[in-house]
Parts: sequence; C-alpha cells; structure tokens
Amino acid sequence: MAKQVVSPRVRGFVCITAHPEGCAAHVREQIAYVKSRPAIKNGPKNVLVIGASTGYGLASRISAAFGAGANTFGVYFERPAANGKTASAGWYNTAAFEAEARKAGLYAASANGDAFSSAMKTAVIERLKKEMPQIDLVVYSLAAPRRTDPVSGETYSSVLKPVGSPYTSKNLNTDKKVVDEVTMQPATDAEIAATVKVMGGEDWKLWMDALEEAGLLAQGCQSVAYSYVGPQLTWPIYKDGSIGQAKKDLYAAAKAIDAQLKTLRGRAFVSVNKAVVTQASSAIPVVPLYISILFKIMKAKGIHEDCIEQIQRLFEDQMYNSGMLKYDDVGLVHIDDWEMREDVQKEVFEIWPKINTENLEELSDFAGYQSGFLKLFGFGLPGVDYSAEVETEVPIA
Ligand code: NAI
Repeated sequence: MAKQVVSPRVRGFVCITAHPEGCAAHVREQIAYVKSRPAIKNGPKNVLVIGASTGYGLASRISAAFGAGANTFGVYFERPAANGKTASAGWYNTAAFEAEARKAGLYAASANGDAFSSAMKTAVIERLKKEMPQIDLVVYSLAAPRRTDPVSGETYSSVLKPVGSPYTSKNLNTDKKVVDEVTMQPATDAEIAATVKVMGGEDWKLWMDALEEAGLLAQGCQSVAYSYVGPQLTWPIYKDGSIGQAKKDLYAAAKAIDAQLKTLRGRAFVSVNKAVVTQASSAIPVVPLYISILFKIMKAKGIHEDCIEQIQRLFEDQMYNSGMLKYDDVGLVHIDDWEMREDVQKEVFEIWPKINTENLEELSDFAGYQSGFLKLFGFGLPGVDYSAEVETEVPIA
C-alpha cells in the first residue's frame, strides 16, 4: 500500500510522475470513443501489440478489443511503482485497460520487459501458444531510445538529428514556453546506423519470424507498423533525418514481412500516421512547435484527432470492414490525410514564420499541446480528484 497525492513533476520533455486514476480515466475515455463508433466488421480476433502501453500501440489495442471484440496480448517496457515513486503511465494504462477488457469478457494479458531481447520473444511465444494461438493481427508500435542486439549483445542508441548538413530551425522550449532557435549538427554515419538498428525494421522481422516458426500466425494474418512523414518544414529533422533513415528500413521490412505473410494470404504494411502528442514525439526537436500550430488549425476546422481517432479510422476505413488498403505510390498507407490537407498545411506555412514567444498562445494551441502532454501521464482528466490520496501500487493482474 502506498497512498499519496500525486502531482505532475515535469523534467524537460518527460513527466516523472503518473496518476493511476487519471491514466485509468484516459483509457476509459478512449474506450468510450471506440464504443461510440459502429462495431468493426471482419475485425481481428487475436491481436499481439508490441509497444502496447501508450500512444499508438495502446490505441491499437483499445480499438481491436472494444471495436472488434478481440483478445489482446500486449508487450511493453514500463516501471511499476516502488519506493514511494509512482509507476510509469504505461503501467497504469495497462492495468486499467486489462481490467476493462476482462470486465467485457475479453482475454487480455501482457508481458513487461525488453521486446528487443530473444528471452522476451521466447517467453511471449510460450504463453501465446497456450493462451492465444492463431494471431490474426500483429501491431508493431515500439518507440525506444536504445536497443541491445540479441545476437552481438551490442547496445545501440538512436538519435534525432539531421543528415548531411547542420539544420537550424525555430523550436519551442515547452518547459520555458519560449520560441527560440536550435541548430542541430548532422548525425555521424555511426549514429545513423545505430538509429536504424533501434527504430528500423530488424526487430519487427525477428518477431514475425519467431511467431511464424512457432506456428502462431493465423490464415489472413496482418501486421502493421507506424511511421510519420509530415510537411517539408519537419523533413530535415524527421523524414530526411536519422529517424527517417530508420523508417526507410522499416518500409523495407514491411515488404519482406508482406511477402512472408502472403503464404498465409495475409499482408504487412506501414501506416503513416498524424503527428500527435506522445512521450516519443515530445522528445523530437521542432515537432512540438509544429504540433501546437497544427492543433489550432485542425481544431478550428473540426478535424482534430488523437491516437484513438486515428487508429479507429485506420481499422474502420482501411484494414477491416471493406479491408481495402489505400496504398500510395511507394506502398505506404496513410491516415495523415487530414493533417496533410492543402488548406491545413497552407495555414501552418503562413503561421510558421510569424510565431514567436509573445504570440505563441494566439497563433498556436500551445495550451492544447500542454494539456495533451499532461494527459499522457493522467493529469487534467475530468472527474479525477487530484487533491485526494490515491493508491499508487496498482497491480496488473
Ligand atoms: P510511445 O512512446 O507512446 O509508445 C512506445 C511504446 O513502446 C510503449 O508501449 C513502450 O512501453 C514501448 N517500448 C519502448 N521500448 C521498449 C522495449 N525495449 N521493449 C518493449 N516495449 C518498449 O510512442 P508512439 O508515439 O505511440 O510511437 C509508436 C510508433 O508510432 C513509432 O513507430 C512512432 O514513430 C510512430 N508514430 C508516432 C507519431 C507521433 O506523433 N507520436 C506519428 C506517427 C507515427
């Protein structure tokens, strides 16, 4: 038992505390959204989500379970509460999700630890053989700062840097609420290679090979991983940066996995998603300023979406119901279409050169960015009494 009043303690682009009841309310909010939508037809039945505890992976798990009635198994790397410290948000999210899923009569279980390791793959596969064979959807949604290669034992760290030449851009210091300028030096070849090792497609393919070898993949099995492209103003740091090189490797892995799944009459692909506030995106230079401007424009047009709306749309409009994926000319699937609409990007482009510290609140939805960020950690949810002591040692059954 460890009851305490939990308040946000933000350090740079992370919050080191999380609110158990707030996280649960956030999960329930996403479940309610999915339930407000028509049930997904021809949806998945047994879903493995790798990176299942926050952001796009959690949203995928929620849409599969509550939109399609799927059993789900989640893999994630989260910290339980200990020594008076709260658990991480993903821990509380998972505890809440699994309790709700079981209440709805759905199988929901998970494994906490390093998804990149062979030991984790083996342990998950042994459980799946007993508890959830015949997987028909594998969602690969990891966002990690480092990876230890399971063969060589070498640890690689990813970087968020431009490639080729230095890049100077406007940037938002979200902590100090100051619009300043950053200059980022280009990644070295070794840093690019390391970023590809961490965020590229190698581990996704290793998972699919291991699952196939164990005979766990059902006929028609699909697999999806996520990427971001965005507008030209973010390309030096994203699409053309070190992370973009890793995403190219992910696209190549998607092709290889797609060929592999063809033998089961399944498919694999990468979905290009919209920019949203997550723990991963808040660490990227330039992106929080872009997101703050984007939110203002998309909210004004009534087309604002968060992870859950995005994934629900991917499932409803493309993966299930009709099952028709709309590939672009390089074989990617897009749910970033509203973000990339010409009228939206034209407005971003007009605001970008004008925005500064003084007019930040007027020209962007920085307040929305901030509240979105705090919500990731369970703060600012309606109906939660933040002045009350809460039990922070929450078990995941
Ligand atoms: P996130 O930070 O919310 O979630 C990351 C997940 O990975 C968590 O469940 C975490 O526990 C898990 N994880 C991290 N390291 C792990 C490890 N070693 N072993 C097991 N689990 C581990 O990230 P987000 O933003 O949802 O990103 C997921 C994917 O979506 C990434 O590929 C990202 O590039 C992509 N994406 C994100 C966008 C954004 O704006 N946030 C936009 C478009 C794509």
